[in-house]
Amino acid sequence: MTAAFINGTKIAEDIKIEVARQVKDLSRRGVQPGLAVVLVGDDAASSAYVNLKAKTCEQLGIYSRKLTIPSTVTTEELLWEVRKLNDDDKIDGILVQLPLPKPVSKHTILEGVDPQKDVDGFHSHNLGSLLLGHETLVACTPLGVMELLYRTGVEIEGANAVVLGRSDDVGKPQAALLMHANATVTICHSKTRNLPKVTRQADILVAAIGKVAMVTQDFVKPGAVVIDVGTNKVADRADVQRLFGDDEVRWKDFEKRGYVWAGDVDQRAVKEVASMLTPVPGGVGPMTIAMLMKNTVKAARIRRGL
Ligand code: GUN
Repeated sequence: MTAAFINGTKIAEDIKIEVARQVKDLSRRGVQPGLAVVLVGDDAASSAYVNLKAKTCEQLGIYSRKLTIPSTVTTEELLWEVRKLNDDDKIDGILVQLPLPKPVSKHTILEGVDPQKDVDGFHSHNLGSLLLGHETLVACTPLGVMELLYRTGVEIEGANAVVLGRSDDVGKPQAALLMHANATVTICHSKTRNLPKVTRQADILVAAIGKVAMVTQDFVKPGAVVIDVGTNKVADRADVQRLFGDDEVRWKDFEKRGYVWAGDVDQRAVKEVASMLTPVPGGVGPMTIAMLMKNTVKAARIRRGL
């Protein structure tokens, strides 16, 4: 079997068109949703993500504001900035780009965001509400994975879904969403015994463990749907060769930037057994941004009682 690739870029474009329509509807009622993105420090990848988020807002008619804050900021100073955004009526959504510099308390900052403006869905109030099955703001990446499954017609109800990784921003909310969609859910991680045996139970396997090409052929049941959430930088020439062989596009990227992106799935091997597979890049990544836009509109509606 050779897997069909799920085109996340195309599905994300469809969602952005829907969101742009919703933004237009809101503007007729005098409302423009607004998103604030907070970038601490000058990490190149984070900066590129934040710029892409702001640009996407612009394309869809969403107001956006970018705050760039020096990496020397203290937790108290950053919390002060977040609170100002909490009180700012033009802002419906607040996203603090992660990772934050080590000395800053991530927990304090994420808990400082008004839960109603928490378009990342990282606040304990929102994660708790998700677990209880209440309508709430949910983390963009797991939400994007669900949307990919729905829009490609994958049957979730009754399926065995295995989530590889237990992070607060992906693994945990992903498991909750799949459970609410009536899948039988297993969460596994780096300490799980006989990991391939567990993941081989999956009809739907979501790989979100942050380890390049960890999911090899023996992790995957023939015919499974495999969602690759990983975005790992590969900067070693030998690793690029091992993972991608003579793939011209990858090598061109490598020569241009000095690294390529690779998922948590060994794509060349797994595509021979899976029925569907998300590519990296072009799978889950574009969905995360589309869902951020959707969450911003949702936050605007909720906050304004619409
Ligand atoms: N860094 C990488 N992905 C994300 C994300 O989805 N949200 C935030 N806040 N930071 C990130």
